[in-house]
Amino acid sequence: MEQAPPAITWTGPATFSVEGVNFVAVDMRPNRPKPSLAPGTLVFLKPAWMVRRYARLLRGLKPGNIFELGIWQGGSCVFFQRLAAARKLVTIDISEKRVAAVDAYIERYDLKDCLKPFYGVDQSDAARLREMVAQEFAEEALDLVVDDASHFLDETRASFNALFPFVRPGGAYVIEDWNWAHARIDKLPDDAPGLYAGREPLTKLVFELVLACGSSKGIIEKIDIDRNSATVWRGKAPIDPGGFDVARLCAARGRALIA
Ligand SMILES: C[S@@+](CC[C@H](N)C(=O)[O-])C[C@H]1O[C@@H](n2cnc3c(N)ncnc32)[C@H](O)[C@@H]1O
Repeated sequence: MEQAPPAITWTGPATFSVEGVNFVAVDMRPNRPKPSLAPGTLVFLKPAWMVRRYARLLRGLKPGNIFELGIWQGGSCVFFQRLAAARKLVTIDISEKRVAAVDAYIERYDLKDCLKPFYGVDQSDAARLREMVAQEFAEEALDLVVDDASHFLDETRASFNALFPFVRPGGAYVIEDWNWAHARIDKLPDDAPGLYAGREPLTKLVFELVLACGSSKGIIEKIDIDRNSATVWRGKAPIDPGGFDVARLCAARGRALIA
């Protein structure tokens, strides 16, 4: 008989467990309640609705091979590995500092070949990301990539260009927080500079993806957008990882739109 997949048990509005491991979902937006952190609880930097959205995605996709960008306190990599019962999850962060909670989880459940955190890795280092795919996943394609790292345009595009060619047809690439330049911040006027004033909005990459979906048959199957994330579904057309650049996939009329 097939084993039932791991499930989420909610223990409060923002607290839950997956197969005996406790998590708290933390919404970092200003004026949102910050739950108290019980010892041993893993911190997942997403609001509860996103936890539910990821649970639906994992149920449908059943990802065996996952590449995550952005470790922070480690809640997300443990969540994805545990809820998906992933064969292999590689996660990176630019910070050099190892996350003790992740090390403790790997040790406790004997997952050293299954959950692999890499520290001091910049998501814009495309060569390094490709090398990690080759070394860690051998010949197997990726089922899911989740980018919750810098949220800056050039860095996020560099990771997408490096990793999307390795996503299997039907697999998904999630870019979180695309909306940071447009999110309304409580009490600030509509034209306030907002987050990361002076940085080019990540929205430009979303526009490039939409245009690429329209101009290039079979590379991007479809894109799901919600108020936080763009989920890019891989089509069936082969991609040469060497010179892949999503910004160049659209035809001239599209280029004029985003120039
Ligand atoms: C929003 S936090 C990740 C939260 C985590 N995924 C979660 O849900 O609990 C973003 C992380 O990305 C890392 N980061 C920022 N810029 C980066 C870059 N250029 N390359 C890799 N990681 C980066 C930060 O150090 C931080 O730990």
